[in-house]
Amino acid sequence: MPGALRSEIVITYDSPMGLMVNYHGKAQWSNLEASYDNWLANREPPLFGSEPDARVWALATAANDPASFPILDIGAGTGRNTLPLARRGHPLDAVQLSSQFAETIRQQAGREALAVRVIQRDVFTTSDDLRRDYRLILLSEVAPNVCC
Ligand SMILES: C[S@@+](CC[C@H](N)C(=O)[O-])C[C@H]1O[C@@H](n2cnc3c(N)ncnc32)[C@H](O)[C@@H]1O
Repeated sequence: MPGALRSEIVITYDSPMGLMVNYHGKAQWSNLEASYDNWLANREPPLFGSEPDARVWALATAANDPASFPILDIGAGTGRNTLPLARRGHPLDAVQLSSQFAETIRQQAGREALAVRVIQRDVFTTSDDLRRDYRLILLSEVAPNVCC
């Protein structure tokens, strides 16, 4: 199965008669990209909150000249941080695994003519297409996905 994987162990049991209990265990593997794509179909937006992360916003707004303060948003979701920061004038690169989330950001950035480059892929694939001069790199609420 391609892409970033996650796994769960599902244990079920039944008690057909008396004191007897049957346990069944099975490993379930799922693809992280597909799981997130599913969110768009089954959940009400906003999926990750309607305001940018307060710490991220405080760090970015300390920069007086946003245009010279490029930002990399890794695991950008639907653009909760990317879009407000781009509106402030920061050049934004948004790396996003889920193709549907990436498209959501791309469309909104296009509508507002924002300086957002959406890179749809697993962040671990390469860094060749990334800039070397980011002043801020965000991993907002992404660590549980990438580390464990
Ligand atoms: C909980 S959401 C947080 C979204 C956004 N950072 C925010 O704070 O609103 C985690 C995001 O990280 C993305 N993600 C997880 N692992 C990734 C990876 N290896 N490469 C790129 N994106 C990844 C998921 O697709 C998802 O959009």
